[in-house]
Amino acid sequence: PDERQALKAQIRHLLRQRNAVMVSHYYVHPDLQDLAEETGGLVSDSLEMARFGREHAAQTLLVSGVRFMGETAKILSPHKTVLMPDLDATCSLDLGCPIDDFAAFCDQHPERTVVVYANTSAAVKARADWLVTSSCALDIVRTLKERGHKILWAPDKHLGAYIERETGADMLMWKGSCIVHDEFKAFELQELMRQHPAAKVLVHPESPADVVALAHAVGSTSAILRAAQQFEASEFIVATDAGMLHKLRTLNPGKRFIEAPTAGNSATCKSCAHCPWMAMNSLAGVVQALQSGSGAIEVPVDLIERARRPIERMLAFTA
Ligand code: 13P
Ligand code: SF4
Repeated sequence: PDERQALKAQIRHLLRQRNAVMVSHYYVHPDLQDLAEETGGLVSDSLEMARFGREHAAQTLLVSGVRFMGETAKILSPHKTVLMPDLDATCSLDLGCPIDDFAAFCDQHPERTVVVYANTSAAVKARADWLVTSSCALDIVRTLKERGHKILWAPDKHLGAYIERETGADMLMWKGSCIVHDEFKAFELQELMRQHPAAKVLVHPESPADVVALAHAVGSTSAILRAAQQFEASEFIVATDAGMLHKLRTLNPGKRFIEAPTAGNSATCKSCAHCPWMAMNSLAGVVQALQSGSGAIEVPVDLIERARRPIERMLAFTA
């Protein structure tokens, strides 16, 4: 604990010294979430992280999360320095959608509007007409459908299928998935719901359809947080990364949050739903990045130009 306190003090000092601001995702370690908030930064979902990074006056952004979040920040503010605690923190959705295969898929369907999830590389974003995150995907696809567009969707198959069911849009899908949310199990979740009949079930839409079908609220990390505050219930079952529990619990001290089951055939099985790449973000990594400038995100200039358009379109739509 002493070492942690010392690292946190060092980070506060380095942030001031470098005139940097810290932006953290809800899935990173609680220390990194708390530090971001108490130093005037932000802890939020991927959409608000992008907007905050673009609008904040600081010329150095320290992004705790996964690589696509740092890249999005850099694309929106190419003149700023964007640092990450660990540049190897990637995402299974990004890894599962390599640009060459994706570009070939798009080339085969030129009549479709390409809508890409934020959890992708800069190169994949550069090939997209629209970028979305889970907090605005439904609204954007619904609007595109009303305007007569057919969609080419990538890369998350569960989020894509959820949007297709909700909007009735014509969506051709890439078949990627999140290794964390893909593991939630409907059968075990039902058993847990029987044990906690008054509990409300909160589900991130990267989860499989049969898990989403059991939800009282489906949405992005920020939507899950809002739902937990709005429901009168005293118990909740949460199907998203366990990192989310920190904010849920601190903002709702009187309520109980139970992790949704991820595997096994028993309703009591413990969740191990924590993204290994989010877990790579550490206090020591933040110190290292701020001290030495290591972990600086670089995106080629031509990609920045092309990838910025779909991201700015999303930010304008959600403004
Ligand atoms: P949110 O946009 O809901 O924060 O989700 C990002 C993510 O990586 C979910 O796994
Ligand atoms: Fe990617 Fe899933 Fe990790 Fe989010 S939780 S960063 S979608 S692997």
